[in-house]
Amino acid sequence: MKRFGFIFHPLDLNLYADGFSESDLKKKRHSLVEGVMKWLPPFKRASITGIKSLTGEEIEGDMVLVSLLPDQILTLDSNFVLKKVVEAGKVAEKLGDKIVGLGAYASQVGRKGILIARGLKIPVTTGSSYTVTVAIEATMKAAELVGINLAQAKIAVIGATGAIGSVCAKLLVRQGAHLIIVARNYGRLIGLKKEILNTMPQASVDIKTNIYEAIKDTDIILTSTSTPMDLIDGRILKPGTIVCDISRPKNISESLIEDRKDILVIEGGIVKPPGNVDFHFSFGLPPGLAYACIAETMLLTLEGRYENYSIGGNITAEKAEEMGQFAKKHGFELAELTSFNKKITKEQIEKVRMSRIA
Ligand SMILES: NC(=O)c1ccc[n+]([C@@H]2O[C@H](COP(=O)([O-])OP(=O)(O)OC[C@H]3O[C@@H](n4cnc5c(N)ncnc54)[C@H](OP(=O)(O)O)[C@@H]3O)[C@@H](O)[C@H]2O)c1
Repeated sequence: MKRFGFIFHPLDLNLYADGFSESDLKKKRHSLVEGVMKWLPPFKRASITGIKSLTGEEIEGDMVLVSLLPDQILTLDSNFVLKKVVEAGKVAEKLGDKIVGLGAYASQVGRKGILIARGLKIPVTTGSSYTVTVAIEATMKAAELVGINLAQAKIAVIGATGAIGSVCAKLLVRQGAHLIIVARNYGRLIGLKKEILNTMPQASVDIKTNIYEAIKDTDIILTSTSTPMDLIDGRILKPGTIVCDISRPKNISESLIEDRKDILVIEGGIVKPPGNVDFHFSFGLPPGLAYACIAETMLLTLEGRYENYSIGGNITAEKAEEMGQFAKKHGFELAELTSFNKKITKEQIEKVRMSRIA
């Protein structure tokens, strides 16, 4: 049976403790736990079983854990972090995996996977192409449910100059939406706007570096940034807004929208692989579901496409579309929409929909 590897890291200490059923870890001094985690070598945490394509083919995978938190990946010496991720790739290599995926902030390491691929004999992908496909599908589905016509919508993409954000922006503008592209670096935003207008001169694109200004009057917000901070203050959003949060860790927290039953926050980038997929441990998603970045690694394995796919920020609309075709062929589907890992009810949708009409 073909095998793939997936390198992941804990998104926060609570998930780490839950993943090992060690709730005591939550009570320990965080700096102490982080200090220990830093020196743990990468290891195989679990097998991924039960993936069965519509073609009948079955594959299995290995989850290889790098015990570093997002902040550690962002702030520790970059060579130290790179060495850890390459070491994790070598664990996958030894297990016989034919390709390895990089989850969450592991995908930011080593020039977005390029240096990791150089350090390994097997190819690497970040999963960003399929993440784009799935996030756009989820956003379109949510828009339809609450009655937003994309062609008339104002959509802010936060992290628009990033690997995922830039392709999302390009695909959303094709729907005729008025786009607001947001990031901190103004020069790169200008570059993206020019690129969009070169292929679509009629496109309507605004630039903002101030998030408050960008989101206070939008219909849809898509966020895909490389910062683990809360960026979106739900309290300032207009009634009926949809937020699709692709970022892991997330950029909007539940506490900031507690009193806002008139807005809908959805998780972007979650799919249901075909068969009865089992990760054999909990990493925060309901059973049977997977992040699109893992799913991209699965799809490339099923296709026998053992090549460096989404690395170096080299993501294109064509690759996102190709992933969509592979997904259809093998039976990968957009997961039922969830908000903060809970099912979205009909009543919730109705409240948001009615607030747009009111
Ligand atoms: N759900 C999934 O399956 C999945 C899969 C892959 C990746 N992801 C997540 O997707 C996110 C984006 O990944 P990526 O590879 O596209 O990252 P990336 O290429 O590094 O892009 C990050 C973007 O965020 C912007 N940014 C960073 N800090 C910001 C801030 N404080 N305010 C506003 N903008 C900010 C950056 O521009 P400036 O630096 O100019 O601000 C850039 O546009 C990550 O959180 C990753 O974990 C999720």
